[in-house]
Amino acid sequence: MQELKHLLSPIKIGKMELKNRVEFAPVTDNFGIDDYVTDRMIKFYEDRAKGGVGLINIGFFTVNYPHNPLGIGMYDDMFIPGIRKLTDACHAYGAKVGVELTFEENYARKRGGPFEPIGPSAVSTREGRPLPRALTIAEIEEIVEQFGDSARRSVEGGFDAIHILGSAGYPLAQFASPLTNKRTDKYGGSFENRMRIHKEIIESMKKKAGDDLIITWRMGGQDFMPGGNTLDDSVKIAQYFEKQGVKLLNVTTGWHDSGQPFIQYFVPKANWIFMGERIRKNINIPVIVGTRVLDPIMADKIIADGKADMVYFARPLIADADLINKAAEGRIDDIVPCTSCCLCFDAWARTEPIYCQVNARAGRELELNIVPAKKQKKVFVVGSGPGGMEAARVAGLRGHKVTLFEKSDKLGGALNAAGTPSVKDGVGYFRDYLIKQMKKGGIEIKLNTEVDNAIIEKERPDAVIVATGATPIIPEIPGVTGKNVVLAADVLTGKKSVGNKVVIVGGGMVGCEVADFLHEEKGKTDITILEMLPKVAIDVGPTLRWVFRKRLNDFKIKIKTNARVSEITDRGVASVRGGATEVFDADTVVIAVGYEPCHKLVREIEGKAGVSVLAVGDCDKVARIAEAVESGFRAALEV
Ligand SMILES: Cc1cc2nc3c(=O)[nH]c(=O)nc-3n(C[C@H](O)[C@H](O)[C@H](O)COP(=O)(O)OP(=O)(O)OC[C@H]3O[C@@H](n4cnc5c(N)ncnc54)[C@H](O)[C@@H]3O)c2cc1C
Ligand SMILES: Cc1cc2nc3c(=O)[nH]c(=O)nc-3n(C[C@H](O)[C@H](O)[C@H](O)COP(=O)(O)O)c2cc1C
Ligand code: SF4
Repeated sequence: MQELKHLLSPIKIGKMELKNRVEFAPVTDNFGIDDYVTDRMIKFYEDRAKGGVGLINIGFFTVNYPHNPLGIGMYDDMFIPGIRKLTDACHAYGAKVGVELTFEENYARKRGGPFEPIGPSAVSTREGRPLPRALTIAEIEEIVEQFGDSARRSVEGGFDAIHILGSAGYPLAQFASPLTNKRTDKYGGSFENRMRIHKEIIESMKKKAGDDLIITWRMGGQDFMPGGNTLDDSVKIAQYFEKQGVKLLNVTTGWHDSGQPFIQYFVPKANWIFMGERIRKNINIPVIVGTRVLDPIMADKIIADGKADMVYFARPLIADADLINKAAEGRIDDIVPCTSCCLCFDAWARTEPIYCQVNARAGRELELNIVPAKKQKKVFVVGSGPGGMEAARVAGLRGHKVTLFEKSDKLGGALNAAGTPSVKDGVGYFRDYLIKQMKKGGIEIKLNTEVDNAIIEKERPDAVIVATGATPIIPEIPGVTGKNVVLAADVLTGKKSVGNKVVIVGGGMVGCEVADFLHEEKGKTDITILEMLPKVAIDVGPTLRWVFRKRLNDFKIKIKTNARVSEITDRGVASVRGGATEVFDADTVVIAVGYEPCHKLVREIEGKAGVSVLAVGDCDKVARIAEAVESGFRAALEV
């Protein structure tokens, strides 16, 4: 058993004693309503406190009104009772709780409205963004006071620490940066002037909330913006914060507008911790690092190697509220691994409540609970993709006698293809986690068994959860049955090999992924994607999509959009674009035009007396892992 003695050892931050060195980093969850904390939000954090986290920093409380649509209000005393319930719920499990304070942000989308973008100066940081309005001195002074008032409310609401959002290109980062702070008054120009607002905020908070207030600061290791703060500059900023009495620094990544992927699965694990490590060497207060640090063993090693004093997890704790307790109990195999799919971040960006690909309960802790079944039933689950295995796991935990059938010779369903590219190893880990849970949960497994009506009639289970997935759509194109034509999933799983010249028919997520994989891992240099729509990767979420497209571009994958394939021959593919036919030479043609539900079994057995039938995942409606996991979980609660 891994002891994790570094990660799980206590640490003192000012007067605040933490039971371990894990921070749940701020995540704007969008569970609040009208700026108020809700029961849903309380339960979400309570579960993470119960799960063993030492310090929970709760994301995005705004000090002023009006503010952008994200976040919870800290701009009025009326919020204190709700906040008190939140902190009490976390304290009950021994966690310390910090609040992340911020003010109306520069990433607002429209000028002139109630949520207009503001900043130190009217400097654009990204093409297409509206220019922020430069704050007046009177407004800056008001903001400084608002931070002080909010710190006082935070303490009255039971928070143990104040965490200031000073990273990612939010306004305080913009004040610190010579790129965006072009002011010629006392808040701009020299380093001291650019840092003046930070100093005044710290002073105001201490004045109004007490001199012994614990202030922690989230800063970028560097901005990754040409003309912005570098790592050397960040060292100086960190030293400045230490001098001002900040007790702990959370060193994170760069600005949202930098065009640099920070959190996507393409980014190597623990890629950014070198910045916190460097800063830590030059200051005397503790430093927290994180981002793509996915598991407690990795986190323990970072601390053991002297690279940081604490580690933050954001998404890994969305994926598994009990991560820390499981780690402490040596139950590493039971930790639900975050795949870095960024669906939670996509939801954040849409200002919708966050949810999780691998954890149906995230944000639904009040609603989705695994309660023992009143009566043990004989449950058959057909299909071992994420929908089937999640259903089997939950039904087993409820006390049912579960048999999982899989027609192929291995468990995992489409996760086997989806998790093949090495950048998507997270999907593979999730598959492996589910498989281990089958074995641990005593689920009877029958491989190489295709379930049909005859089996159901003979065995007479009480309930059947059908999770038979989807089958690839084969377009009706002349030549599609040729020897040179292969399916995307078969290429990924290695069942089929490809020649040197490859044409991929279909530029959705799967087609793009195959192109990326063939270039990156198989060294193919002559790849063309033919896509009927005007753009590729349209079905990929916004956080990943731009990285996908950038990689394809960097890999020199040829992309032809608005191209409808009209014929496949043994020499290649003909496609029609704008009325003209073009021919693309190919040794291999890969079909990636989508999937259709495989509901044959449901149709066969539905309505049969005495058997309750529930369809989950792609066999009901073709979607993604998240939908399969959620529907599997819900079906298991129903049986
Ligand atoms: C290449 C590829 C990449 C993908 N990448 C992503 C991604 O990055 N993110 C994402 O969210 N989604 C992705 N997906 C989609 C995702 O994998 C599916 O939506 C998800 O796996 C559906 O889960 P499921 O449990 O419904 O079915 P499946 O995973 O398809 O599993 C169904 C299983 O049922 C078995 N089966 C079928 N009929 C029977 C029968 N009669 N008896 C016994 N067994 C049977 C099949 O053999 C199969 O193992 C990808 C899919 C592919 C193909
Ligand atoms: C859904 C979501 C919302 C986030 N909201 C905030 C936020 O409000 N404030 C903040 O400082 N960081 C926010 N972040 C960034 C995380 O705190 C963290 O830095 C990032 O997710 C990388 O860490 P991870 O790899 O452990 O997830 C958010 C991240 C996610 C996924
Ligand atoms: S949605 Fe994806 S990235 Fe977010 S926590 Fe869940 S698995 Fe991780």
